[in-house]
Amino acid sequence: MLTTLPIRILDVLMGWKAWRSGAVSVGSGTSLVWRRLRRVHGNRLRVGEGSIVHANIIFESRGGDVSIGDRTYVGLSTVICFQQISIGNDVLVSWGATIVDHDSHSLDWNLRRDDVREWSRNRKDWTHVPSAPVVIADRAWVGFNVTILKGVTIGEGAVVAACSVVTRDVPPRALVAGNPARLIRMLSNGDELAQ
Ligand SMILES: CC(C)(COP(=O)(O)OP(=O)(O)OC[C@H]1O[C@@H](n2cnc3c(N)ncnc32)[C@H](O)[C@@H]1OP(=O)(O)O)[C@@H](O)C(=O)NCCC(=O)NCCS
Repeated sequence: MLTTLPIRILDVLMGWKAWRSGAVSVGSGTSLVWRRLRRVHGNRLRVGEGSIVHANIIFESRGGDVSIGDRTYVGLSTVICFQQISIGNDVLVSWGATIVDHDSHSLDWNLRRDDVREWSRNRKDWTHVPSAPVVIADRAWVGFNVTILKGVTIGEGAVVAACSVVTRDVPPRALVAGNPARLIRMLSNGDELAQ
């Protein structure tokens, strides 16, 4: 009890600061670990109702948008947003996942050579960093230690097997696995979405 009290106080203070900045909205019955949010100011985070979000949510710059729906669970994973990451309703994201909508650096050495120096000065030129929105649709399930890279849409009710690296879109109700993730099978009638 005594050891967790300072952490709880920190969480409340950080939550108050983030909430007051207007950047964060959280639905009723949702549990969010506020101290795991980074650089929310100038960005937008929306979480629906009845969700549990234990993730580190990191905004790289300004103008980023992370939305998480209702009744969704995001375990102790990392969500790194430059542009837009959208996680739907009734989604499960296990622990250890990394969801990122950009590459962080350019493939061209000349365009990334100053990145560390710029960071240490608290600035960075994002012009040459490829990025594209990530969408995880309703009722998808992302297994533990999965990586989801820029531009990927995980379709409704799809399942991503543990430790996969997803570089391409996953169709609705598909089961994918591996690095890079490939289609294993479409989910059968017994797995069909409840209407
Ligand atoms: C390596 C990377 C930069 C390449 O990006 P890109 O040039 O846009 O690559 P593409 O998305 O066009 O993918 C090209 C092919 O490589 C595969 N591929 C790309 N990244 C892959 C990865 N991490 N693991 C396995 N395969 C990968 C893709 O599936 C694709 O194969 P396909 O055409 O058969 O489907 C990017 O995929 C990546 O890994 N980004 C994350 C960077 C990172 O770790 N940043 C952290 C901060 S330091």
